[in-house]
Amino acid sequence: MATRVLIGGQWGDEGKGKIVDVLTEQANWIARFQGGNNAGHTVKVGDQKYVLHLIPSGILREEKTCVLGNGCVIDPAGFLKELDEVEAGGVDTSGRLWISDRAQLALPYHRALDGAREEAGKKGDVKIGTTRRGIGPAYADKMHRIGLRAGDMLEPDFEERLRRNVREHNLILELYGREQLDEDAVITEVLTAADRMRERIADGSVMLNQAVNADESVLFEGAQGTMLDIDHGSYPFVTSSNTTSGGAATGTGVPPNKIQDVVGVVKAYTTRVGEGPFPSELFDADGEQMARVGDEFGATTGRPRRCGWFDAVVARYAVMVNGVNWWAVTKLDVLDGFETIKVCVAYDLDGERVEQLPANIQRFAKCTPIYEEIPGWNCDSTQARSWEELPEACKAYVRRLEELTGAPAGIVSVGPKRDETILSPAAEKLGITLS
Ligand code: GDP
Ligand code: IMO
Ligand code: MG
Repeated sequence: MATRVLIGGQWGDEGKGKIVDVLTEQANWIARFQGGNNAGHTVKVGDQKYVLHLIPSGILREEKTCVLGNGCVIDPAGFLKELDEVEAGGVDTSGRLWISDRAQLALPYHRALDGAREEAGKKGDVKIGTTRRGIGPAYADKMHRIGLRAGDMLEPDFEERLRRNVREHNLILELYGREQLDEDAVITEVLTAADRMRERIADGSVMLNQAVNADESVLFEGAQGTMLDIDHGSYPFVTSSNTTSGGAATGTGVPPNKIQDVVGVVKAYTTRVGEGPFPSELFDADGEQMARVGDEFGATTGRPRRCGWFDAVVARYAVMVNGVNWWAVTKLDVLDGFETIKVCVAYDLDGERVEQLPANIQRFAKCTPIYEEIPGWNCDSTQARSWEELPEACKAYVRRLEELTGAPAGIVSVGPKRDETILSPAAEKLGITLS
C-alpha cells in the first residue's frame, strides 16, 4: 500500500511504535502529523531499546526519510536532546530527518504554562494529567495565531517575535502566581537550538506530495490515540491535536484522496495515563497482572498506566471516526495467564444499555461496562510465529474482537520485538506484507 495512516485506537500507548517499525520496512517515507514530545514510542531492535518522542519511529531503519509535519508541535531543546540520543544509539539521521517549516514550536513558556494550569487544576479546576510538555499552550497559540513556526527560525525578526511572546506569556504566568521566565535565558536556549535545527527545516508538504506523486510509499505515524483526539476523544481529558486519521491530511498537506489505507493499533486490553473516565478500568488483581506483565509505565513520564479490559465500544467508535480498514492487535501475550478474559461490549448508563460513546464527559463518567466473558488460552503465546501456531482460544479471542469492532485484524503481536509479529489469514487480502 503506497500511503497508509497508522493511528491509536484507544488512549495511546497501543504499541504504535513497534507496528510503525514493522511496517516501515515497506515504506520510503515516515511522517508524523500531530503531537509533539508528549508521545513515547518504544521500539525494540534486537536487544536495543529506543524510546522516540517526537522523531518518527521510522528513523531506526536506514534509508528511510522522516518528516515532522506541519501539524506537529516541536520543542527545540527536546528535539535536539532526542536527536542526540538517537544518534548516540548508532542511528545516522543526516539528510533524512526534516521539519516542516509550517510546524509550530513548543517553547519554554508553553511548558511553564502547562505546569501552571495543571497546578491550578489540582486546586479545583480540571486537572488533565498532561505530560507537561507544553502541548496544550503551544496549540492554543497556534489557534490564537501568535504561535511561532519552525520556518520563522529562518527569518531575521525571529528573536524579536520570540521576545514579545516571552513577555506576553510572563504576564499570563503572573496571573497564575508563577515565577517569571528569564527572557534572555529563553532567547539563548531557543536561538542556540535554532542554529542546529535550521538545516533540517524544509517545506514538508511539497516533499511528501512529491513523494506520493512519484508513487513512493508514505507511512503516516499517529501519536496518542482516538480517545485523546481534541474533537473526538473524551474531552476535556484529551490532548490538543487531531490524533485521528483525518489529522494526517491536515497535518502534512497530503490531501485525503491520496491516502489509501488506515490501520488502527489496539492493545488486546486497555490502558490510559492521566486523568479522566475509563469505564473498563480494573482496580483488582487482574488489573495488577496486566500492569505487571505488560510493564505498563508511561514511556514519557514514567507514570503507571491505568489498566482494564478491552473496550469494544471505544474500538467500534475508533473504526467509525478513523475509517480503520484493519487492526494491528498488540500485547496478546500479556493475556497469556488469564483463565477468563472479559470484553466490554456496551455500557450501562442509568440502567439503560448504551452502544455508542456519549459525547458528554459526565455521562461518559457514569457509564459502567457490560461484559462478555471469553475463555482465556492460559498458555504461552510468545513462541508463536504464525497464525497457525497461536493457541486456538487466542485466535478465537481475536476473531471475537473483529466481530465486536467491525474491522478485521491484519497483524497480531505477541511480544515487543520485530519477529514477534504475526500476519493474520486476512493480511494478504488487506495488502499487508512483511518480509
Ligand atoms: P506507543 O506509544 O503506541 O508507541 O506504545 P508505547 O511504546 O508507549 O507502549 C507499548 C509498549 O509495549 C512498549 O514498551 C512496547 O515495546 C511494548 N509492546 C509492543 N507490542 C508488544 C507486544 O505485542 N507484547 C508485549 N509484551 N509488549 C509489546
Ligand atoms: P503515545 O503517542 C498516552 C495523555 C496525557 C494526558 C493527556 C493530555 O505514546 O501513545 P498532553 O501532554 O498531550 O497535553 O496530555 O494525554 N497523553 C498520552 N497518553 N500516550 C501518549 O502518547 C500520550 N500523549 C499524551 O497523559 O492524559
Ligand atoms: Mg507511548
